[in-house]
Amino acid sequence: MQQISSFPRNQARRSWFPIGYRSLKPAIAWLISSVMSDSREKAETAAFRTRNLSKVYGTGRSAVRALRGVDLEIGRGEIVVLLGPSGSGKSTLLNILGGLDRASEGDAWFDTQCLTSMNDRDLTRYRRNHVGFVFQFYNLMPSLTARENVELVTEIAENPITADKALGVVGLGQRLDHFPAQLSGGEQQRVAIARAIAKQPEVLFCDEPTGALDSSTGRAILRVLQDVNKKLGTTVLIITHAAATAAMAHRVINFADGAIQDVHLNKTPIDAEGIEW
Ligand SMILES: Nc1ncnc2c1ncn2[C@@H]1O[C@H](COP(=O)(O)OP(=O)(O)O)[C@@H](O)[C@H]1O
Ligand SMILES: [Mg+2]
Repeated sequence: MQQISSFPRNQARRSWFPIGYRSLKPAIAWLISSVMSDSREKAETAAFRTRNLSKVYGTGRSAVRALRGVDLEIGRGEIVVLLGPSGSGKSTLLNILGGLDRASEGDAWFDTQCLTSMNDRDLTRYRRNHVGFVFQFYNLMPSLTARENVELVTEIAENPITADKALGVVGLGQRLDHFPAQLSGGEQQRVAIARAIAKQPEVLFCDEPTGALDSSTGRAILRVLQDVNKKLGTTVLIITHAAATAAMAHRVINFADGAIQDVHLNKTPIDAEGIEW
């Protein structure tokens, strides 16, 4: 990699090289990342791997180091709970893994695809085909019904399930024609989850999905995420402030000051209903 990026761009090179290095760069990066990934152990089971993943926002004295060399592996089909104080870099990590933001240094792979060497178009395709997002606020279109909100996604996805089925998975089969204003907060979050899973993503990223909900509604939403994981096999990453949520995870990652403090594997995750907070 080192050698390729320092390829001399002098006149002699340009004259005999039929296609510019710039236009070949994504293909070379893809080739190198596939070869590297294929030769790694556990390549078949890891959903994500990162190596020295770092992120700096801003420059000079105002620079913020949001991620400080994160090395991480997440298995396919896991529920992962990411815990840590506000400002510790959780959303930054999730946004880079979800293709919403770019790392400053280091690498991240989804399966065998190297996210950190993708161009904008490939990242867009990655987001569209492979990942769903759920945020604290539901971001529904107020003038569309629950079904129509989900159809916004199913109309453009490659391999969607129907909006009705997605709303069934989250337990909203009886509210298809309701508008967001006619739904409770928990029900609106269910619509947002249905919208995220309708394209059958391999991964669901949830950034504080219960942050705006009371505890019993929050538990019900966590139960929906657990159902999605069980029924559809989706890898689910949940960022939360509520440490008790760790009990339902297969893998718990404690984050502090832009770095992983510890990773804990949970052999006996409990049902979300049993979470006490
Ligand atoms: N777009 C941004 N520009 C500048 N600083 C940012 C930006 N996003 C996050 N940060 C900073 O990076 C650090 C980590 O933020 P974040 O990943 O949102 O933490 P968390 O999700 O754990 O609360 C914080 O200090 C935050 O202020
Ligand atoms: Mg955050």
